Amino acid sequence: MNHDENTPLMDEMENTLTNYQEEFVRESLMSDAFLDFVEENTKPIDQLFAYYRCATMEVETKFRVLDESLSVELDRNPIENIQTRVKSVDSLLRKMKRKNISLNLNDIEEKINDIAGVRVICSFPDDIYELARAFLAQDDITLIQQKDYIKDPKPSGYRSLHLIVEVPIFLKNEKRNMKVEVQFRTIAMDFWASLEHKLHYKHDLPPERAKALADELRDCAEQIEILDQRMQAVRNEIVTYNEENPKETSFPGFPLLGS
Ligand code: GTP
Ligand code: MG
Repeated sequence: MNHDENTPLMDEMENTLTNYQEEFVRESLMSDAFLDFVEENTKPIDQLFAYYRCATMEVETKFRVLDESLSVELDRNPIENIQTRVKSVDSLLRKMKRKNISLNLNDIEEKINDIAGVRVICSFPDDIYELARAFLAQDDITLIQQKDYIKDPKPSGYRSLHLIVEVPIFLKNEKRNMKVEVQFRTIAMDFWASLEHKLHYKHDLPPERAKALADELRDCAEQIEILDQRMQAVRNEIVTYNEENPKETSFPGFPLLGS
């Protein structure tokens, strides 16, 4: 059979999919209620998204500052990478539909915690807790919720530390507290989560194969945890050795500096 040719069954499946997509767009993105809401709220919606972008900037800066200041103490940078994002409108709409949240900006702000997201990728597991502690100790940060999926991984094998916090942003005439979701992961946890996310949404396997692959992914996550612990142990040994064997810091040629 030529691969370009569709069987009647494939044609039918394609049609069903297209109809489903059109129905979703009509029901959610193009419903009268939604179009009225957009018309009345275009400016406030744009403004709210701008506030969330400001909040991600504030939080990103806080972590850049922490990374810089801790780098002197640790002699290395604890943060490998920081990623920020504001939720897209379509994924916000999907979530509102899933959680049955009304088209009301106050409700959206109150009930959806992850419109603004910051992901902090750390070198070692201990760095995650050190950074989270230092971040939460700042007097303008309010902790709303904490989920430690490192201590208690999700059934999928997912590991990360999640915080929902409130951070103030300073506008022309007001101060506004905005919610931000912060996810802390090691490079290894991030590697797993990124690939698992891609695989999860791109298969249509029969249930028994899907289950076998889910088991395999959970096993990979456990291997990754072991790897993280081994890398942490190597680092701890180097740190302990350096503490017990401090380098000579005085300059013999400059007696004044050494005294
Ligand atoms: P959401 O409504 O999906 O945001 O769930 P929630 O409010 O219960 O939050 P949760 O603590 O489950 O964290 C949600 C976020 O964590 C997701 O948007 C992903 O970024 C990440 N996440 C949670 N579970 C998994 C998982 O099994 N695999 C991957 N790759 N990411 C996950
Ligand atoms: Mg989410």
